Amino acid sequence: MIRKLFDDIYYVGACDKSKPLFENLFPLPEGMRYNSYLIKDAKTALLDTADESVREDFLHNIEQALDGCKLDYLVIHHVEPDHSALVGELLARHTETQIVTSATALKFLTQFSGNDYSSRAVIVKEGDVLSLGEHSLKFIAAPMVHWPEVLVSYDEKSGTLFSADAFGAFGADLGGITIYALENVENWAAEARRYYSNIVGKFGNNVAELLKKASVLKINRICPLHGQIFDTSVDYALKKYSQWSSYTPENEGALIVYGSMYGNTKRAADLLAAELSDKGMSVKIVDVSHTDVSYIVADSFVYRNLIFASPTYYGSLYPPIERLLSRLKKTGLCGRKIAFIENGTWCATAAKLMKEQLDGLKCDFSLPPVSIKSTLDSKSKAALKDLAEALLKAE
Ligand code: FEO
Repeated sequence: MIRKLFDDIYYVGACDKSKPLFENLFPLPEGMRYNSYLIKDAKTALLDTADESVREDFLHNIEQALDGCKLDYLVIHHVEPDHSALVGELLARHTETQIVTSATALKFLTQFSGNDYSSRAVIVKEGDVLSLGEHSLKFIAAPMVHWPEVLVSYDEKSGTLFSADAFGAFGADLGGITIYALENVENWAAEARRYYSNIVGKFGNNVAELLKKASVLKINRICPLHGQIFDTSVDYALKKYSQWSSYTPENEGALIVYGSMYGNTKRAADLLAAELSDKGMSVKIVDVSHTDVSYIVADSFVYRNLIFASPTYYGSLYPPIERLLSRLKKTGLCGRKIAFIENGTWCATAAKLMKEQLDGLKCDFSLPPVSIKSTLDSKSKAALKDLAEALLKAE
């Protein structure tokens, strides 16, 4: 289905509602949207293609939106195959079309496709402008948001920022194509945060650099390559990205993540949660064995205090906790207070191992760990109360 966004700017993207995993890694309970835009001015420009999985809908949408017009330009902001898989087929159908992209993107495109498109390419860089008639796209370099070749572009006439992966979200339908009500904004935030923290989170400085460049623009509309389009609430999206890219917590409370084989470590996590919430702290408690890592990484961007509880397992960490911490470390998360609860029947080492696994994150690890021998006793219960007091005092 095509949608008119503004005068002669059309949405021509498509949804895959049945794909289970994005990048064969991240769960997609609500599917995935691959966005693409067509500007029909004196010159026509298609902004990015889409994923192979939506080939049929996407190609149909373009032909419907073009309605017999020739396609002058294919602007490629980002070469990752979820946006470039259909470049070859599009160029074969439209032999008149020139690619407009960065030099690095053209190189990557050749690597992925095995084709040399240089004779059909116009190379652009930061500050260059592609004039289409009344619309003109000004290119802004956005390296590592989320690959090195990425460009975003800004159309001054409509005040539209075509933001590539930035401001993207998981989910095919979080309340329609455009964001128009607070409820939808919050739905967007949950899946945009999960997308951001797991896929772009490591590149906070690069995102901050892009936001700085965007701050001088009058942005009426944000058109990302995934998820919903912002034609209201632009400031909300910019604020969220500012928070996430600077690793600023959105909640001063605590996220407690536990792994538990027989319920003993879970009971410790529950006791700490009760101590904290009874005294007014906002708490979220998560069983690592029943929650995909990507959701816990996203929650870790939300909360100021993070508590990880793990049994000692096979002389190491409980495997789901180990996987989580490995992923979390890669995000470069900083500015959090992090505490540990370990459990072990004869040689508890989980707290030490958890701390080692997060070594290098600029977080506060100063709170003493709580150690449990098999199950809670008066000593470990008292240590949990002390941990709760220390977290509350720091609030
Ligand atoms: Fe949506 Fe980095 O690709």
